[in-house]
Amino acid sequence: MLLSRRAQRLTSSVIREILKVTEQPDVISFAGGLPSPQTFPTEHIRAACDRLLTNDPSASVQYGPTEGYTPLREWIAALHRDRGADVSAEQVLVTTGSQQALDLLGKALCEPGRPTLVESPTYLGAVQALSLSEPEFVAVANDSEGPDPAELARLAVPTTSFFYLIPNFQNPTGRLIGPARRKELMRAAAARDLLLVEDDPYGQLSYSGASLPSLLSLDPGHVVHISSFSKILAPGLRVGYVIAPEALTRKLVQAKQAADLHTPSFTQRIVHEIVKDGFLDQHVPKIRELYAQRCQVMLDALARHLPASAQWNRPQGGMFIWVHLPPHIDAEELLQHAVKAKVAFVPGSSFYVSNPVASTMRLSFVTVSPEKIEEGVARLGRLIKERLFP
Ligand SMILES: Cc1ncc(COP(=O)(O)O)c(C=O)c1O
Repeated sequence: MLLSRRAQRLTSSVIREILKVTEQPDVISFAGGLPSPQTFPTEHIRAACDRLLTNDPSASVQYGPTEGYTPLREWIAALHRDRGADVSAEQVLVTTGSQQALDLLGKALCEPGRPTLVESPTYLGAVQALSLSEPEFVAVANDSEGPDPAELARLAVPTTSFFYLIPNFQNPTGRLIGPARRKELMRAAAARDLLLVEDDPYGQLSYSGASLPSLLSLDPGHVVHISSFSKILAPGLRVGYVIAPEALTRKLVQAKQAADLHTPSFTQRIVHEIVKDGFLDQHVPKIRELYAQRCQVMLDALARHLPASAQWNRPQGGMFIWVHLPPHIDAEELLQHAVKAKVAFVPGSSFYVSNPVASTMRLSFVTVSPEKIEEGVARLGRLIKERLFP
């Protein structure tokens, strides 16, 4: 069998491979990026299904438009207008998870060898999705506040490139880009006429409930915005969306038509049925509260069990803590011992397109109970100290 060049380039996500190991029930896993099942509103989903199948059974399971279910597109556009971005329903394309938006953007915007800018580190799934279109990934250097705007000005890339970034509670680092840095980045992008792709699945998960202006609201002409119902309702519904200038939305629609005709009518309608009357206003605060508690438990455990030479951030939202181990500790090697000790995490090197920092790791705390967080971090602490003081 002669596989295409594209197929030969496909690799499995390191995270999915690690998840296979961590599926055993006795492993304490900080590796997954899954939301907590405790937050899934299954009763509301059941009631929404009942209403849909009673009131509108045929349309609920019939083919639908590629662009998405119109009332859901209108709801999404209104949400973003409320947040200060001038968005019309025609600019919204509903996608099969926001992951599909990344795939469609790759098909519409990437060319073999054309530079695509990414943060360093960045979301591995985006690199996987865009890789199929064979761009040349260029890592934008960052400091503790986020990507460096001066780098955007300095890098010799054509205006046909775009910069993919996750401003809110980034996967993998949990970092939030502050208001001043957002404006500087937008100014630098506008000066070069560079498109920014803002991926925002975690923006709603700010522990304080406060939110910062989206890049889309700051400069809609230079931003494509991607988001999802995965982290605020349930990921298995596979409903996400992309908001783009209308000409690009039309191209994305054509690419989506070829991929899957449309996102399932049924799950789009379930999402709309649940969100249309303000359900998220009471539901999302509960997710924030749970995640903030778990995050604090992990921060306390890290302070107790990790050596003073390790460092980590204190996320203000989202699902991840990013740890810098003492520089000579290789997190991939540590993981092999950790799995034997029945604890898992994702080595940070997986999230870089170039110059990986081997002594970093991503810890996810939202699916693990407080007792297990304490126990898992204690096990990690012992393994790290054994490497420091053999
Ligand atoms: C930054 C980021 N973007 C996109 C996705 C894809 O999410 P979904 O396809 O479920 O919307 C994820 C999933 O974890 C993510 O972390």
